[in-house]
Amino acid sequence: MRSFVGRDIISLKDFERHEFERIFEVADKLAPIARNRKNVDLLKEKVMVTAFYQPSTRTRLAHETAMLRLGGKVTGFSDAKMTRAGDFYMESIKDTFKMLENYGDVIVMRHFQKGAPKEAAKWVSVPIINGGDGWGEHPTQILTDLYTIYKEKGHLDGLKWVAVGDMRMRTMHSLGHALTQFDCPITFISPKDMELPDEYREDFKRNGLNFTEGDDVRTVIADADVILVEPVVQPDYTKSRDERDGDVALTPPEFQITKELLETKAKSDAVLLHSLPRMDEIPPDVDQTRWARYWKEGHNGVVMRMALLALVLGAEE
Ligand code: CP
Repeated sequence: MRSFVGRDIISLKDFERHEFERIFEVADKLAPIARNRKNVDLLKEKVMVTAFYQPSTRTRLAHETAMLRLGGKVTGFSDAKMTRAGDFYMESIKDTFKMLENYGDVIVMRHFQKGAPKEAAKWVSVPIINGGDGWGEHPTQILTDLYTIYKEKGHLDGLKWVAVGDMRMRTMHSLGHALTQFDCPITFISPKDMELPDEYREDFKRNGLNFTEGDDVRTVIADADVILVEPVVQPDYTKSRDERDGDVALTPPEFQITKELLETKAKSDAVLLHSLPRMDEIPPDVDQTRWARYWKEGHNGVVMRMALLALVLGAEE
């Protein structure tokens, strides 16, 4: 197996099945630290830099908490406007990251341009973790989703997935790549103008993903073991910031998971995931149902980042 030490985590396209399994193993080992709200000194000699060019609640703070729980230090920025990349100089990725590599041992970045983490990785000697790049990928979120399902069901093979939302979303691309490594048929449900981009559709076909596409979750939810939801009422992920201006549209019923839909059509033991933030595609009264696992994902998101940091920084082989 390729070592994780020093490795960039940019895309799940290049992940092999046993590498997912190894990450889950390390996550299981480190989970009690987060569960018991303890801090240890596994990474006490290490510093993590966060470079976030787009807003984030979960991805940045889960990485920071993970690093702190493992005894490491954290520095970085969450608003590029307060750096030279976001003012008059518009400092390039190359110039910015050639500085950042001096400030820490691993860099977690989120950027509005697809491919920005790959570009950054070209110029630095420390590992880059992609915390979401434009309409590209979001590998650490999907690792969290898969780990959540693995913990809930005890296995991944044989589970049928339905993914609902905007298929331009970076999570959907990482999900498709990841499921090529498992026996997990998936149906992607989206509005016509938010279908899978050809590039990903072709990749998924080439790499043997068993997938179909549709436009109404109500027609397919009965077969699903896992229902993964993203908004169809979305900001523009290619912008550094997309302020809401005026009212936004409501989610059409074809892309909404209501309590009634779950109670009348879903499998009793199906698992409902959402990476969050949400709009109205999952109304709040679903939160208390037995299907919802998105709050649990908040905890698993910290555990998953602990595992990744321990692996890429060499504390776990
Ligand atoms: N799931 C996720 O990426 O959330 P944030 O945008 O808050 O990081």
